[in-house]
Amino acid sequence: MDVVRWGIVATGNISGSFTKDLALLPDAEVTAVASRSMAAADRFAETHGIAQRFDDYRALIDSKAVDVLYIGTPHPQHYAVARAALDAGIAVLCEKPITLNARQGRDLVELSRRTGTLFAEAMWMRTDPVIQAYFEDLRSGVIGEPLQVLADFGFFKPQLPERLLRPDLGGGALLDLGIYPATFAYMVLGKPEAMTAMAQLSDEGVDLVTSMIWKYPAAMASLTCGMTAQLPWIASVSGAEGSLMLPGRWHHPDHYVRRTAAGDEQIAVPKSGLGYHYEAAEVMRSLRAGLFECPAFPHDETIDILELLDEARRQTGVVYPGDDEYLGG
Ligand SMILES: NC(=O)c1ccc[n+]([C@@H]2O[C@H](COP(=O)([O-])OP(=O)(O)OC[C@H]3O[C@@H](n4cnc5c(N)ncnc54)[C@H](OP(=O)(O)O)[C@@H]3O)[C@@H](O)[C@H]2O)c1
Repeated sequence: MDVVRWGIVATGNISGSFTKDLALLPDAEVTAVASRSMAAADRFAETHGIAQRFDDYRALIDSKAVDVLYIGTPHPQHYAVARAALDAGIAVLCEKPITLNARQGRDLVELSRRTGTLFAEAMWMRTDPVIQAYFEDLRSGVIGEPLQVLADFGFFKPQLPERLLRPDLGGGALLDLGIYPATFAYMVLGKPEAMTAMAQLSDEGVDLVTSMIWKYPAAMASLTCGMTAQLPWIASVSGAEGSLMLPGRWHHPDHYVRRTAAGDEQIAVPKSGLGYHYEAAEVMRSLRAGLFECPAFPHDETIDILELLDEARRQTGVVYPGDDEYLGG
């Protein structure tokens, strides 16, 4: 597989950013795009120089024109599209959250294992060079044992995208934004022994703000996300000897701050693009190695995090129409 052939499902915001970054990989080629409408598929294909276009997601899967499918639809559609691709033996890199809930996620992981077809959550954080350097520093013990995690993700826009507000599109802050602080805390401390969550809900029943406390035997994580205020948008880990902080907009970090008795140091890490090609490269390495699970995107951890989000939603009363969809046996 000299060149890996990618297919893009859906032509929205993140599909555009991801496809732009894919162009940075010389051994990747986007050979096909699928949209719900031919006009959008054509527009996207013209912008990114893609040869094959489909006005139906299924038609792309059936075409066998790709080695791996990238899924950038709203969350409720991830499950059926990913399942159809895995069933057809096509590898999948699926946007986060991979499904609305852990039950659906476990079904996809089981299908991936059963068919030996690669399946991965597009969680950029796990392959971003700045965040990797950050975690290496943390593991070196420079701040001592991690005792507290503080992380937030959130913004306000006068006109929020409809997707974020509609229950049928999996709207709400937790699944769209809170999954990042949750993944960060999980990467530092693993699964908590207890957790509590509170939320402010919209009239339609999606969470506008969710805050969670995760408790560990010797550590705590305070995590928040929201769509009503301009949050500081930081992620930090503190120990007895200091802290490591990813400053504002840690979605696209270019440095982190190490605070110890030696003072504050800004650690810059070189990177290119928006950072999405690092996750794509990990998928391509794994495909070539014949793996169905990328080392950087462990299935069990993806599911653990979905279970924690399920529990937060149970405590805050956020339910989606798509929650009951289940295609497994
Ligand atoms: N990794 C990241 O940094 C990141 C950032 C943003 C979002 N995301 C994730 O990526 C997914 C998409 O987010 P986005 O911001 O790109 O959303 P978006 O701009 O609204 O695009 C979503 C696309 O999905 C397709 N779609 C399928 N069914 C739809 C429906 N019923 N209503 C609306 N669109 C539908 C549409 O494409 P067609 O019309 O072409 O079919 C639409 O353009 C979400 O799961 C989100 O959590 C990830």
